[in-house]
Amino acid sequence: MKGNLFNWIRYSLFGGVIPEGKKGIAVLGHRFYVGGRWDEIGQLQFDFMFAQGLRPEHVFLDIGCGSFRGGIHFIPYLNKGNYLAIEKEEELVQRGIENELGKELFDAKRPEIVITEAFEFTELSKVPDYSLSLSLFTHLSSADINLCMKNLRAFVNPGHRYYATFFEGGSDSERRRSHSLDHFEYTRTTIEKFGTEHGWETHYIGEWNHPRDLIMVLYTAR
Ligand SMILES: C[S@@+](CC[C@H](N)C(=O)[O-])C[C@H]1O[C@@H](n2cnc3c(N)ncnc32)[C@H](O)[C@@H]1O
Repeated sequence: MKGNLFNWIRYSLFGGVIPEGKKGIAVLGHRFYVGGRWDEIGQLQFDFMFAQGLRPEHVFLDIGCGSFRGGIHFIPYLNKGNYLAIEKEEELVQRGIENELGKELFDAKRPEIVITEAFEFTELSKVPDYSLSLSLFTHLSSADINLCMKNLRAFVNPGHRYYATFFEGGSDSERRRSHSLDHFEYTRTTIEKFGTEHGWETHYIGEWNHPRDLIMVLYTAR
């Protein structure tokens, strides 16, 4: 996100934190709302998952898909119906379909998107092989991350690979409420615990060339 403009809007107009949801999306636009650097971070996440073995026949779940910054790369690549996503902001999904994916690609590939903020994976019609949440835990409280880990583990099969990015810090952010435009960070120990407490094996990957130094973790379902 462009630091100066973002901070000017944030402090001058909203006194600190820009509101989530429709209001924030209207102010920032759908590309900036999900973090900006649209082409670069979209391509980066696709290249990473490809290198991890994602192939067109796999079923892939994008957790917190936003306006399809990653989806515009994953959807054309995967076989029809194999892109699944959950997202809490319907407005982002609508804007993404209209302005980024387009009707033709949408109709050809039939991505499946569930609007939920309670990690209701059972609303999806297929069980994924791979999942990714790109810059989701950077905006979530520990209670919400735990809910995500618990619900996803209950939904997927052993061996499922879930990739997630975090801001790694020296201590855990302790705010109780998640906020999509605020910054949360966790220690490596806490990141590992989110997995081990809910039936996952945690593999710390670390740096993966993200321009804002997000770190990557892989959780494998036991
Ligand atoms: C920083 S954006 C990243 C979006 C997308 N992964 C990308 O790379 O462009 C984080 C996204 O997570 C969504 N989100 C936040 N909390 C969520 C929740 N509880 N359930 C589903 N989506 C959520 C936000 O609305 C936002 O679209």
